[in-house]
Amino acid sequence: MIRFLFSFLIVLVSISKEAYGQQEALSGMYSPVFTPFNTSSGEIDLSVIPEYAQFLKDGGTDGVSVATLTGEGLSLSVDEKKKLYEAWVNAARPLGLKIIVQVGGIPVPDIIELTHYAVNISVDGIQLLPPPYYIITNSDEFVALLEIVAENAGDLPIYYDDFYEYTLEEEDDFSLQSYFDSASRRVAQFKGMVGTFRVAVYASLENDPRSDQTIFIYNQPNVEAAAFMDCNSFMLPAMNIFPSLFKQIVDLSSNGTRSEEALAIQDRLNDIVYEILDKGDDVATLKAAAELVSGIKLGGVRPPMRALSRTTYMEIKDILEDNDVETHD
Ligand SMILES: *[C@@H]1O[C@H](CO)[C@@H](O)[C@H](O)[C@H]1NC(C)=O
Ligand SMILES: *[C@@H]1O[C@H](CO)[C@@H](O)[C@H](O)[C@H]1NC(C)=O
Ligand SMILES: *[C@@H]1O[C@H](CO)[C@@H](O)[C@H](O)[C@H]1NC(C)=O
Repeated sequence: MIRFLFSFLIVLVSISKEAYGQQEALSGMYSPVFTPFNTSSGEIDLSVIPEYAQFLKDGGTDGVSVATLTGEGLSLSVDEKKKLYEAWVNAARPLGLKIIVQVGGIPVPDIIELTHYAVNISVDGIQLLPPPYYIITNSDEFVALLEIVAENAGDLPIYYDDFYEYTLEEEDDFSLQSYFDSASRRVAQFKGMVGTFRVAVYASLENDPRSDQTIFIYNQPNVEAAAFMDCNSFMLPAMNIFPSLFKQIVDLSSNGTRSEEALAIQDRLNDIVYEILDKGDDVATLKAAAELVSGIKLGGVRPPMRALSRTTYMEIKDILEDNDVETHD
């Protein structure tokens, strides 16, 4: 079964290489960026975004996604998100990075306002979290949600963010197929999803994504396996910490040969990331690690998320150093 899945996927991916449509497909390694805060004022600190963009560019990142859950997007006001989007466009575009902005998970009038703004400042793509208070249960509801954005997004590509994993409920109850099919037929700008490795595999097997559609995998433990199966697009929170190492895994794994070196890097990163996550909330701990590794002042998390204690922060620094990762503090 596994072997069948592998070869089938490889065939699918090679069939889908030809050009489709006019909008350039976004793909590759994306960082769902953290939002820097000024620790004393609690305001967003836009001043460090240029050096943050440069750090990601130097690590081989292809693009950023702004105001996702990793970026505490649901803790930011509409005005803050506009300023943040714009700061990323200004900092990242000159470096050749693509910019996706997350607009969802908030009231519809605000989603529409942010979508208009995103079109206005010429981002490269829109990412859409579902509402946290309303569970999508069928493909019509899924399409209706996408249409709210599509009607206001011009020809920008839209990526549904499956963070809550609504589309893959249980082992055998697989609703992704009908969601993906309906959205692909009915929403011209529906260009893919952000989901787990499992979503990427199912989408490829069941739905034959068009060449202009991309599934960005968001979970980091399977990068090597996914890249080996020619799923080469990722949106990993840990890309903010180790961009060049993830890039290296993908480069080593993409030629159809299982690479021992890629496996070794993957295992090492998994050990480090799990040890860090063990210290507390995902966003708070990974953000601290990104600050320690990059030397860029990201400034902790916004309430109601709890700040890490100094002790926990130093424990994360120790984890990194014990694993031969250089830190700045
Ligand atoms: C952070 O906030 C403090 C106090 O509100 C202010 O004095 C300082 O200039 C701010 N730092 C930056 C980098 O904006
Ligand atoms: C788009 O930009 C124009 C010109 O800068 C501005 O007047 C308009 O209010 C903007 N619209 C939105 C929705 O931000
Ligand atoms: C593919 O990867 C293998 C294992 O790392 C390596 O030996 C080989 O040279 C690579 N081939 C190409 C074409 O890059």
